[in-house]
Amino acid sequence: MSDLSSMSTPQVLNGYERAVQCTYGRIPIAFVRGRGARLWDSEGKEYLDFVSGGRAGTGLGHCHPRVVEAIRRQAEALLFVSNDFHHPWGARLGELLAQRSGGRKAFFCNSGTEASETAIKLARKWGSQNGGRYEIVTAQGSFHGRTLGALSATGQTKFHQGFQPLLEGFHYCRWNDPDSLASAVNARTCAIYLEPVQGESGTYPASPAFMQAAARLARERGCLLMVDEVQTGFGRTGRYWAYEHYSVEPHVIATAKALGGGLPIGACLALPEYCALVPGDHGCTFGGNPLCAAAAVAALEALDAENLVERAATLGERMLGTMRDWARQYPSITEVRGLGLMQAIEFHGDQAATVGRGALERGLITHTVGAGILRLLPPLCLTDEEADRGLAILAREISTVGGRG
Ligand SMILES: Cc1ncc(COP(=O)(O)O)c(C=O)c1O
Repeated sequence: MSDLSSMSTPQVLNGYERAVQCTYGRIPIAFVRGRGARLWDSEGKEYLDFVSGGRAGTGLGHCHPRVVEAIRRQAEALLFVSNDFHHPWGARLGELLAQRSGGRKAFFCNSGTEASETAIKLARKWGSQNGGRYEIVTAQGSFHGRTLGALSATGQTKFHQGFQPLLEGFHYCRWNDPDSLASAVNARTCAIYLEPVQGESGTYPASPAFMQAAARLARERGCLLMVDEVQTGFGRTGRYWAYEHYSVEPHVIATAKALGGGLPIGACLALPEYCALVPGDHGCTFGGNPLCAAAAVAALEALDAENLVERAATLGERMLGTMRDWARQYPSITEVRGLGLMQAIEFHGDQAATVGRGALERGLITHTVGAGILRLLPPLCLTDEEADRGLAILAREISTVGGRG
């Protein structure tokens, strides 16, 4: 195996520059090690990770011992067999997800966008058998993934530019506007597809009235309610699923990210009577492979064993309380919002970018949306001491821009 431990940061950055397509605005840091909420770069600098590896990719934190052990054991037993066969880890993962989702059955894939694609195809297939319905209503500001079906579902035109024509039949209602949602649903609608908390556009929780209107409309108009829990799933918002905050029961859940404990796996979960996809309709060669399934089983078991969902609720509330105090103190902050450990601070002008840059300099990783919204997505394993340390760094950075409204 090549030993890359001596590669310097400039060498890594040059490698990307020369040989990797430039599809991301990558930060010029090269990470080489992670544990829990901490990361180390190739120069040995330590960071506190308030984004769970970036965009909530690993909810449990880096290299959770149970996940690492499961991967180690699995790597020696079996890495891959295709979905032409069965394996015990797929069965166990399906059962765990069914137990935690009211008996919904899983289709396994590798990513969030594939989970969205599966939900879209399931809805179309179900709609074709139920009155020829094919339209899907999503929300403005939503994000459902980058492949063309999920991109068509995504209600942000900035992501569509250059990729038209998109898939037909998508309608985008105004976010948190039950009337707009009601007027977008018609006799051709097969599904309403919503994030309970819009993540990528800046952490905007759905209002209870909006989610409940979606459930009511689905019931009254005979279409499916589907939720995108790719970012919110597995405790991030202080409930196992974010839809549980709203007392609604979706027919379909798309999920990924935290599911694999750091490995790529996604799932589309559907109530058994709505599992419209049958052999030949859909597939994914590596979906639910033994390695990722074993890691996901370990991740879900760790989530329960360590009571991390409750932890996300209590720690999230405490952190949001501190941030709300800042909002009262600093005119530069226009709003603090979030659920559990999915949080955002909105600033005047470009101050989020300034705060984010300053925090990174001092070893705290956050995520900015545009220049005005600072997002926090810390891992559920974050200790009180780490939370306080990260908040202290942020408080200091905010105080330097604080007076400027
Ligand atoms: C709500 C939501 N859906 C779908 C996706 C796409 O997931 P992936 O990048 O794994 O394809 C994301 C990614 O950020 C997301 O936040």
